[in-house]
Amino acid sequence: MFLHKPVMPAETLSYLAVAPGQVYIDCTTGEGGHSELILKQARIGRLICIEQDDEILQKAKERLRSFGNVIFIHDNFQNLRQIAERLKLEQVHGILFDLGLSVFHYKKSDKGFSFERDSGLDMRLNEKLRTRASDIVNRYHEQDLIKLIWAYGEERWTKPIVHRICEYRKQKKIETTVELKELIERAVPRKFWKRWIHPATQTFQALRIAVNNELYNLEKVLDDGISLLAPGGRMVVISYHSLEDRIVKNKFRLYSRGIDEKGQEHPEIRERVRLLTKKPVIAGPKESGENPSSRSGKLRAVEKAG
Ligand SMILES: C[S@@+](CC[C@H](N)C(=O)[O-])C[C@H]1O[C@@H](n2cnc3c(N)ncnc32)[C@H](O)[C@@H]1O
Repeated sequence: MFLHKPVMPAETLSYLAVAPGQVYIDCTTGEGGHSELILKQARIGRLICIEQDDEILQKAKERLRSFGNVIFIHDNFQNLRQIAERLKLEQVHGILFDLGLSVFHYKKSDKGFSFERDSGLDMRLNEKLRTRASDIVNRYHEQDLIKLIWAYGEERWTKPIVHRICEYRKQKKIETTVELKELIERAVPRKFWKRWIHPATQTFQALRIAVNNELYNLEKVLDDGISLLAPGGRMVVISYHSLEDRIVKNKFRLYSRGIDEKGQEHPEIRERVRLLTKKPVIAGPKESGENPSSRSGKLRAVEKAG
């Protein structure tokens, strides 16, 4: 019934140190897989489930309906501070981020996240957002499109891909996932296709990140989340690509050692948290074999200083 298997379930519960009677926030509820595990372990505790896609949030509500101690919030996690204020939460014991998309989005959603499903190029997780992926591919100037796909997709074939897009759209708007996928396939010579990743993967990732402001949201919420933790409270972040992981790693280093990504010292911030994962935790071979979503996952965790 649920398509997404929670990634690194045992590690997530252990790093969150879920204990009965405490308050937790799942900032990326999805279908509620991790939420259910937290609720079972926290028993009489409270869980706030945040999710910005209402369609999938309804699935989580269904899954968790037997638990009385859950509050569902349909919002972007970048509003975490305001959400906590509204709920009169001064401190919480654990915050989870399991970033990116759910299998549901790739397999069942018609918003254009997957090039394996023919649908419109939308990619907005929240309908209040104004820019769709189709707006970006059809309206951006060539140079801006190159910058975007390079920055968010780290796609080595960015220039030929963008050139194809710009030539094509002179004749006709790019409207569907399959149209875009086929353009990309034609832009990357077949001998350079990798066995394990389709040539459209990174361009689709770049568009999704841009449409949903994913990196900006993450950067912002980590600061607010760390402030919201009670002494001894934990934050766990599972990321799925290097751009996100870099943001998490840098932020955790800043709050633990007081050193930013440029190597500059910030003694006023140092030791606000203790780093629990010197290196990111990854799924073991059994889980990677059974759950493809777990293969690129990197888990990092910190504990708020007492
Ligand atoms: C990997 S899935 C989470 C899966 C979930 N942990 C489970 O076990 O079922 C990530 C979810 O986070 C949501 N999401 C991504 N960015 C978000 C944001 N900025 N605010 C709120 N939800 C977000 C996505 O819509 C997606 O449903």
